[in-house]
Amino acid sequence: MEERERWDKRIEFILAAIGAAVGLGNIWRFPYMVYQNGGGAFLIPYFVALFTAGIPLMILEYTLGTRMQGGAPQAFAKISKKFEWVGWLSIVLVFFIATYYTVIMAWSFDYLWFSIKLKWGHDTANFFYKDFLQLSGSPSVLGSIRWPVIIGLVLAWLAIFLCIFKGPKATGKVVYFTVLTPIVLLIIMVIRGLTLPNAIEGIKYYLTPNFKKLLEPRVWLAAYGQVFFSLSLAMGTLIAYSSYLPKDSDTNNNAFITSLADAGIAFFAGFAVFSVLGYLAMAMNTEVPKVVSSGFGLAFITYPTAINHLPAAPLFGVFFFLLLLTLAIDSAFSEIEGIAAGFMDKWKIKRVPLLLAIIIPAFLIGLIYTTKGGFYWIDVVDYFVCTFGLTLVGFLETVIVGYYYGADKMREYSNSTSDFAIGRWWNICIKYITPIILVISFFSSIYSILKKPYGDYPLWVTIVGFGIFIFSIIIAFVLQAIKGKEE
Ligand code: PHE
Repeated sequence: MEERERWDKRIEFILAAIGAAVGLGNIWRFPYMVYQNGGGAFLIPYFVALFTAGIPLMILEYTLGTRMQGGAPQAFAKISKKFEWVGWLSIVLVFFIATYYTVIMAWSFDYLWFSIKLKWGHDTANFFYKDFLQLSGSPSVLGSIRWPVIIGLVLAWLAIFLCIFKGPKATGKVVYFTVLTPIVLLIIMVIRGLTLPNAIEGIKYYLTPNFKKLLEPRVWLAAYGQVFFSLSLAMGTLIAYSSYLPKDSDTNNNAFITSLADAGIAFFAGFAVFSVLGYLAMAMNTEVPKVVSSGFGLAFITYPTAINHLPAAPLFGVFFFLLLLTLAIDSAFSEIEGIAAGFMDKWKIKRVPLLLAIIIPAFLIGLIYTTKGGFYWIDVVDYFVCTFGLTLVGFLETVIVGYYYGADKMREYSNSTSDFAIGRWWNICIKYITPIILVISFFSSIYSILKKPYGDYPLWVTIVGFGIFIFSIIIAFVLQAIKGKEE
């Protein structure tokens, strides 16, 4: 039997895991979530979610990976052959995530280039939607492909391939660069941000708690969703990464280190974003809430506007988009590594041909998002995959480990190999708190799409979105059913 591929050092695993966790989710999703869901008060549900679901589930995934020495499908198959599909489901879902995650990277590549000459001009919203994406106005009109986006997409996939084609030993060296660079850039951005006039107004918006929001269940669900996305949970990634560690590796401490680093960086990134928004509000003679925009708008519209107002604007622009790219790259390759692990384990396929067999179809599917109607599809696929898919996988993980495998058995194992032991609180999180919250979250999302189709799109878009979710489950069962290659 061939030796399993390995990380060289523990620190390289930790960096890679931090790199997987810290991504685009930290710089645009987290600050916006905080702002939208009660400012500083959101930190309460966020940290509750981190400790009751994020860290416990991460311990679970690390332990599964190290104990079973396999990617997600094999880890579940070793618990029972009938659960292998759960691992495949996470892999199919993360494949869909990778198809659009790389498109956001593609935009970042393009914007990096645009920064040099501040090509977005004064009307940054108009530039983003009309000149750059040339939005078609509806998800049903795809229109032609946008070449600048494709060029960025090729670069993104090329970078991903180069980072992982040699296996974890080499990836372990790449992550020193891809994890530390964005941290340095972020520190520069925060210092620059906080020294701008009126920065403090932005920070006030970021952190002033609105406790009334804590009464809304939606806010709590958003916090759990954010923790899942940001920590890359339920995607098979962390199971694969930890399966490249020796069997007796620490899991508890590693999980705390990764999660707290991710949360810390997200919190820190908020200062970079909101200080600049404070400044922008002043420069545009308006109030902070007026300049805050959601999701992509923050990175590709609001930030470019702010950059326009800054001294040494092009340099600041280059820094910001380099920050996005270096944040995203190690998350993106972790997605692919998690997928590859599943296939390498089951069919003993060689790494390089396998990576190409994953990357080429992912690139081709990604072409849909590079069309004029693609923007809408990113939104739709992201929503359905994350809201339904990840919630389902997370739920199944907790139930299979908590009840079928046995929470105590897993905890004893992780305690026996870890730097420090975790108490019975872990069982309670895995058996009760996390699955219950995930069930509530799942059904409240079902209820909301039944009440009104997703977004402002026609009904059929919701049907396609939900169809992708169902399709992923079917593929997962098919992959489970196909016979693997014996050793
Ligand atoms: N956690 C990453 C982020 O915050 C996203 C990600 C999703 C990474 C899926 C790996 C797998 O951006």
